[in-house]
Amino acid sequence: MGKLKVLVVDDEPGIRSGISRILRNFTVGYPFMEDDFSFEIIEAETGEQALEIINSNKPDIVLLDNKLPGIHGIEVLQHINKNHIDVEVMMITSYASLELAVKATGNGAFNFVPKPFTPQELKSSMESITKHLFLKRMTSKMKEESKQLKFQFLSVLSHELKSPINAIEGYLKIMSDRQVGENIKDYQTMIDRSMTRINGMRNLIMDMLDLTKIESGKKKRELKNTDLNEIAKLAISSIEPLAIQRNISIHLHSDENTFYQSDCDEMEIIFNNLLSNAVKYNLENGEVNISIMKQKKEIKIKVEDTGIGMTEEDVSKLFHDFVRIKNSKTKNITGSGLGLSITKDIVELYGGKIDVNSIPDKGTTFTIMLPSEHSEKPSDD
Ligand SMILES: Nc1ncnc2c1ncn2[C@@H]1O[C@H](COP(=O)(O)OP(=O)(O)OP(=O)(O)O)[C@@H](O)[C@H]1O
Ligand SMILES: [Mg+2]
Repeated sequence: MGKLKVLVVDDEPGIRSGISRILRNFTVGYPFMEDDFSFEIIEAETGEQALEIINSNKPDIVLLDNKLPGIHGIEVLQHINKNHIDVEVMMITSYASLELAVKATGNGAFNFVPKPFTPQELKSSMESITKHLFLKRMTSKMKEESKQLKFQFLSVLSHELKSPINAIEGYLKIMSDRQVGENIKDYQTMIDRSMTRINGMRNLIMDMLDLTKIESGKKKRELKNTDLNEIAKLAISSIEPLAIQRNISIHLHSDENTFYQSDCDEMEIIFNNLLSNAVKYNLENGEVNISIMKQKKEIKIKVEDTGIGMTEEDVSKLFHDFVRIKNSKTKNITGSGLGLSITKDIVELYGGKIDVNSIPDKGTTFTIMLPSEHSEKPSDD
């Protein structure tokens, strides 16, 4: 059961204890609320005392008399309004003049209860103020959650723009240094690959501009029979420019049939991230081995490198947003620390698992298991 703190501000002790008595065993519940609410009463005799309690004790509801010995109720209300304090105020007063009512409403008072009131009148006012408070808090929570979803969606997409940009940059660098000679024809494959990458980027940007997807915080998933071997080759071609510059060789070993019911963009993100790490955290002249194995009930993807490796403690920190291992070996390598967390999220969408084995200065192996039979979670839109 939820508990709401109610501050009763009145200089008459009889009114305060009367309200306490009426609300002591009273609860409010609606079918759409998970919990019933009960009330915890806090009392204040003056407006000054009320302000102190509002600041220190954060009540949810204030029942406020206007005519008080020091500052008046309406001034307490003005203070609440001016400082945007998250509390609902109900005025209770025997001098319910029109002028006061207008002023109170203008300052955000929720309601007005004239004194004297019956227990039933107080209870029904408490019911409506509780419902109002609940709905208001629910709405702001939902707004917050949807903001977070949008942020997540945009950060994943913009993260994935990095691999095509790096690939194109690498090819341009090779061309600019004339690494394969002066003949433009010898660069044709690199030009074609750059064009393909640019196309991929255009699609990603279109996704980012598609407001309906941003609103829902989701990209539409398209599950198709996808050849993981082809996806791996695509990812290799993205990272190749960087690999060439560091003289790292990449080998792909795969079974004959590597078709998997999946969204090809999601599979590409997995390969891009694991390969980008295997090259980035490798040593000059190192090696990367990728294997794709079809097993009875699952597909196993392994990405092995001969790089800097990680300690057990480092490994235990992986797969969370913005985690980067900081040491002398990684200090000149850039990244945002999102790749592995995005990869893990995708693997889990398929009911799969990701494991890592690493030995410092020897290398790292990431292994992904994807169950052949996965419950296809269609996109909700
Ligand atoms: N193959 C690897 N070998 C050694 N360390 C690795 C390897 N893969 C990941 N790491 C470590 O794990 C950290 C997190 O990796 P992750 O891919 O999530 O982020 P990142 O590579 O730093 O940035 P990005 O978001 O650009 O991928 C890296 O910063 C690195 O320290
Ligand atoms: Mg990475």
